[in-house]
Amino acid sequence: MNTSPILIVGKNAKTGWRVDRLLQAEGIATRAVSRSTTPAFDWEDQGTWRDALQGTRAAYITFHPDLAIPTAEQTIKDFVTLAAETGLEHLVLLSGRGEDGARRAEIALEQGGLDWNIVRANWFMQNFSENFMIEGILGGELALPAGDTVEPFVDVDDIAEVAVATLTRPELRNRVFEVSGPHAMTFAECVAAISAATGYPVEYRQIPVDQFIDGLRAQGLPDPLLWLMRELFTVVFDGRNSAPTAGVEQALGRPATDFDEYIRKVMASGAWDRSGLRQA
Ligand SMILES: NC(=O)c1ccc[n+]([C@@H]2O[C@H](COP(=O)([O-])OP(=O)(O)OC[C@H]3O[C@@H](n4cnc5c(N)ncnc54)[C@H](OP(=O)(O)O)[C@@H]3O)[C@@H](O)[C@H]2O)c1
Repeated sequence: MNTSPILIVGKNAKTGWRVDRLLQAEGIATRAVSRSTTPAFDWEDQGTWRDALQGTRAAYITFHPDLAIPTAEQTIKDFVTLAAETGLEHLVLLSGRGEDGARRAEIALEQGGLDWNIVRANWFMQNFSENFMIEGILGGELALPAGDTVEPFVDVDDIAEVAVATLTRPELRNRVFEVSGPHAMTFAECVAAISAATGYPVEYRQIPVDQFIDGLRAQGLPDPLLWLMRELFTVVFDGRNSAPTAGVEQALGRPATDFDEYIRKVMASGAWDRSGLRQA
């Protein structure tokens, strides 16, 4: 049996650290990397890739900032080529549902000659508690150009479990798992559910996409990320991803986690606790 480590690109990413923790709990050696580790791994610096890959047998990779960006396809192609050269056997890619750029990157992986899996995800539930949206939740207002489009948000704990299943069960190889939550909800419905659970008022406010982008520009977001946010909230968020998928059940044999259970976990973690803010 090959006991060399499994590479995780995205040690600090929302799914990366969870995949790392689950693999270690199964006694599997890991090498989790990001820009701040030794060896370091930077998607924008190919010189960092070989040291990270060397001596690993499989990899779970999270791309940054998003596979939708125009350069992602070539970057993934280059990474797959190097991975094959260093002897990697199996590569699992976290992808985004309904993104044309992501699909092109997926094809590069599927045609790259390695065993592969794609875990193609809807919007993460944890964007409300571990990402840019937490500020809006704690501040009492989430202002987005999301409209009434419904999204079956997926729990990243489920994504991590699916990724680990693909890494540890050879019979699942060379398949796409489309992972979503069990119910599609609007952002307004998510925010109302969070407000009810936390006991403090949080409101969803609909804003035009241009106003949203102008606000991000004023905060100093660079042009490529502004392009990405516009793409995500217009092209990708047009309803194409609204139907729940069966990927969690297919990989794990159990239903996907619902939004209420996600809320219970975040409440237990204290991430939406405002008391720290009041003291600050
Ligand atoms: N968020 C969603 O709803 C969603 C939905 C579907 C798919 N996805 C996919 O999930 C992936 C991660 O998305 P996320 O926004 O949620 O971010 P994330 O998983 O929270 O990842 C953030 C981490 O990426 C690392 N990072 C940043 N720039 C990097 C670079 N140049 N090279 C290597 N690592 C870098 C940073 O760690 P260091 O500072 O330590 O480097 C940072 O902590 C993306 O590919 C996205 O397409 C996200």
